[in-house]
This record gives sequence, C-alpha cells and structure tokens, in this order.
Amino acid sequence: MCGIVGYIGPRNTLGVLLNGLSTLEYRGYDSAGVSFIQDGKLELVKKKGYVKELRQAVAEAGYTLDDKHTNRISAGIGHTRWATHGAPSDENSHPHMSMNGKLCVVHNGIIENYAELRSFLKKKGYVFASETDTEVAAQLIEYYYRLNDCSDINAAVRRALKDIVGSYALCVLCVDEPDRLICAKKDNPIVVGIGNDENFIASDVTAMIEYTKNVVFLEDNCILTMTRNSIEITDVYGEPVEYSIDEVKWDADSVQKGGYAHFMMKEMHEEPKVFDATVTPRIKEGDIYLEHFDVTEEYLKDIHNINIVACGTAYHAGCIGKYLIEKLCRIPVVIGVASEFIYSDPIIDEHTLTLVISQSGETLDTRNAMKKAKDLGSRTLAIVNVIGSTIAREADNVLYTAAGPEISVASTKAYTCQLGCLYLIALKFAHVLGRLPDEQYVRYQQELIDIPDKLSEILSRQKEIQRFASKHFNADSTFFIGRGLDYFLSMETSLKLKEISYIHSEAYAGGELKHGTIALIEDGTLVVSTITQDGLVPKMESNIKEVATRGATVLAIIPKRFENIKFSCNEKFIIPDSDELMAPILGVLPCQLFAYYMAVYKGCDVDKPRNLAKSVTVE
Ligand code: AGP
Repeated sequence: MCGIVGYIGPRNTLGVLLNGLSTLEYRGYDSAGVSFIQDGKLELVKKKGYVKELRQAVAEAGYTLDDKHTNRISAGIGHTRWATHGAPSDENSHPHMSMNGKLCVVHNGIIENYAELRSFLKKKGYVFASETDTEVAAQLIEYYYRLNDCSDINAAVRRALKDIVGSYALCVLCVDEPDRLICAKKDNPIVVGIGNDENFIASDVTAMIEYTKNVVFLEDNCILTMTRNSIEITDVYGEPVEYSIDEVKWDADSVQKGGYAHFMMKEMHEEPKVFDATVTPRIKEGDIYLEHFDVTEEYLKDIHNINIVACGTAYHAGCIGKYLIEKLCRIPVVIGVASEFIYSDPIIDEHTLTLVISQSGETLDTRNAMKKAKDLGSRTLAIVNVIGSTIAREADNVLYTAAGPEISVASTKAYTCQLGCLYLIALKFAHVLGRLPDEQYVRYQQELIDIPDKLSEILSRQKEIQRFASKHFNADSTFFIGRGLDYFLSMETSLKLKEISYIHSEAYAGGELKHGTIALIEDGTLVVSTITQDGLVPKMESNIKEVATRGATVLAIIPKRFENIKFSCNEKFIIPDSDELMAPILGVLPCQLFAYYMAVYKGCDVDKPRNLAKSVTVE
C-alpha cells in the first residue's frame, strides 16, 4: 500500500528510483511518480498506471536512465500510490509539488485534518492541483518555509507536523537544499539504507537490498535529514535521537522471480525451505527453544488466557493456533480479527498473553489491536516475518518466521511459517506446563522436522492440481468445506481463491452446510473438501455426498492413509501422511496451488490482484 523510495549518491538516480519502485510494486498501487533535482532544478514526472508506464514517460521526457551517463541528479524521491483521497489520476499521483515549485513531497498514510488545513491554506492564497491529502502537506511545509524566511527545510517540516493530524511516512525534496532529503515518520514505515558514499530511503528493505544491507528503521515521530554521506535523526523538537544500524539477512535474489512465472509460484516452492528454516533451528536435543523468550512454568502459570489478534491470512493461521493451544496446553484462547478487536470490550489484563501475528509487521489494524491489548495490561508475543518492522519492535517478545521477503500479495509461505511458529509455541507451552509427555513432545518435534520433505512431495505433483483447475476455472462459485482443523484451513484457502481469481468462494464447516448454505449448491458448483482428521471421515463423507447429490463437482484432499476409503468425490488429491495435528501444514499447499492455477487460467494478475495491497497501513 503506497511505496516510497529516495536516493542520494553517485549512481544514476532515476535508475535507482525506478528499480526501487518496481520492487515495491507488490505493495499494491495505481499510479507512480518521481521527482529529482537535476542541474539545480526540481523536476517531476508522474503518471496514473504502472511503473513501466512511468519509466516510459521518464524516457520520453528526455531524462537518462543509463548508468553510463554522469549522474546530473543530486537527490531524488519516488512513489507508488494506492488511492485513498482522490481517484487514481496523473494529478493525484505523487510526488506533489508545492504551489511555488520550491519542494516536492511523497507521502504514505492519511492526513486526517486535511480539509481544515486545505481551507486554511486557500485563505493564504494557495491553489491546489489535486484532490489529495498529501498536497496539503507540500503546501503547508512551503508555507512555513517561506514564513521562516527560507532558512531551513527541516525546521519547516517540523513546524508543519505540529499542525498535521494523522499518519505519515513523508519525504521532502527542496530545490534550495539540492543535496539532502528530509523524512518524517508516524505509523508508516521508513527504512534508511546506509551505503558507501550513498544513502537510500524506502518503505521497506526490498527496494534497497540490491545496494546495501545496512539499514536503520526510523522510529515514530522522528525526522531524518539525509545527505550522500550522512544521516541525522532528531525528534520533532530537533533534539538528536540515537539509532542503531541493523544488518538485513535477505539477499537480492529473494526479490526476483528466479525463473518462475509468478512470485506466488516461487513462494509456494520455497515453502519446504522456509518452513525448515523457521522450525528446525529452534528444535535442539529433544527440546524447543523460542529465542529471547524464556518460557518458564512460573511465567505460564501466571497466564490465565491467551488472546490472538491478526488480519486475513495471519488471522487464519491464528485460528489454527487457538485450536492447538487449547488442545495441547488447556489455556483458554480468544481470537478476533484485529480490525474488530479494537471496537470490542475484551476481558484482558496482566494475566493475558496476546499473540500478534503479521507477515509485514506493519498492518495498521493489527498494530492498533496490539496497542489496545497492551493498554489493558496484556503481555505481547509477536509472530512476524519482517525484521525490524513496527510490530516486531513494539511487542514484548518476537518470534520471527524465516519466510524471507514475500512479494506476492497472496500470502502463502508466510502462512506456512506462521503455522510453524504456532506449533512450536503450543508444543513448548504444553510441555513446560507438564501437559505433554516427553515422548509425545519429541514425536511431534520429529513430525515438524519431517514436514519440508512432505511439502516437496506435494509440489512434485502440482500438475494434478493444474489439470483439475484447467477443467474448472470457469466455475462461478467454489465452496471449501472441512471440519475441525480442516475448517480453519478451508477459511484460508477460500480467501486465497477469491483474492487472486475473483471467483466467489465461501469456507464452510461441513456440519453447517445444512443450516442454510447447501441451498446454494447446484449443478456444477465446485466444492473442495479437505479431510485429514481420522475421527471426522464418516461425517465428511456424508457432507460430500450431500453436495454431490445436488450436482456439485468435488475435489477431496486426503492423506495417503484414506486413499482406499470411498468418497463420493469426482477427484482426489493425496497428501503424505502425518500426525493429524500437523495435517493443516500439508493440506494448505494443494489448495494454494489450486487457487494459483484457477487464477492463471482465468488470466488474472496473480501477484497483484485488483484492489489489494500487500501491506495494509490504513484502517
Ligand atoms: C493474504 O493473502 C492477504 N493478502 C492478507 O489477508 C494479509 O494476510 C493481511 O492483510 C495481513 O497482513 P500481515 O500478515 O502483513 O499483517
């Protein structure tokens, strides 16, 4: 959701900016733009559409993107916009130039009091060229800059921020200070990349790992002044703020497709490797270690309930986490979607542990839910993929998933890794509480260690799923049904299908169908039924029979040991056997592949589905 890049250094600035924007495409956007100071003049190119159109517009305007040419640009900023205030259009695209052409601004977030500020500025004679909230920031900064007699752009930004209510990652380029960028951050991420005689800023590290791995995560309410060889961070009063430089472990290849047609396919193929990287290093000599989190019996006895907050796919992982924790640890767990949690009146206190699950670590709804839980006294443990992200920094403890960068908007490998962490937590807690005997504890650990090979086995048979999808991609509606753990898995796979193929889809608990939804089943309705729980086979077979009798086409996903059971389905996909508790980690993969192929056959933009953004940083 919106992406920012900025660069000062000897490379071809436009090349760095446009490559960075291409890397940030996955966040979701509808227009893009760049602004830079070339030979002392402030230049601006922006367009509705994708980065490739912007690239063309830049070239048509005569600016060089060729590395061999001397870099005549002293500093530049770029932006991908996901429309909030004002429709996608050239005018509403960022950067926004102030009325007198002094400065350009890119912004992620929302300026809540923009209407009030706009009318204030209009009274001062400012004329607006767009409908956006961001343009207000550009004009306001310029207003204070001129009022201060053009002394210092940093001071003008800090003064403007006093008037601005809302959230922002803001980056400002001023023609009078051609060798520096000023950034401000509140509730939206900004990462600073430290290079050798060059510096970068971006919304996330993926846009800069090609050039540097040394980064500083800007904290809320901080102002950055960046030149080619210096960074200075202050608070809003101009007082210096200390910072540390972190090293990013991800490599540049991880943000390339690596020969796959889509990032989503590449990321599904990474599942065996990243699940292993998430789980195996935490299992040593028959025990589980959750780094930086000392899980003692005393600590756990003091936890009376667990609360889980997350959104979308991460929420679905949390549903499985709730099941596991309650089953293995006998601790009551409440789970809620983060966006609703903030309106609820939860029963939470210092004896609550809140699990916060997020791939990006930046989802605003999840951040707000975590804040609410903390305000009520809860302890927090975050399961996060992006190192140094806001949720990771703000939680009491963090357990990182080792999924690496997830570029496709549809989350696949991050979900599998989130499950990995939730299994580790549930097993560890249960063992420490004395509710899981040693022998079973060790057996479950081995089950987790064996998962990657089984995932690889599923991937080696992806053609079976492809064949099924090739016959049914025209379906108007698909139902995913399951019971117990398989129902929670179905919630995730249904989301996957709808978000990338735009096919209407519902997840239903098998037993719930006859309470209403079965009325929707008719000739040709597609039903995907995952059946992995031994005790639930007869009941699921009844559900399959019920929908098949009414004309549904059924794909059953079952473990090898059920191969000879007669189900009333049209086709079966066999997953390797595992303990039934672990089955969701395997059962999800064929469904992700199914969603992928359905979307591909429908001709959808798999990695960048319409209307969606990867990192949802607005409420
Ligand atoms: C998953 O495919 C989604 N696109 C979406 O539901 C996502 O899981 C959700 O927005 C939460 O994101 P997060 O994990 O980064 O917090």
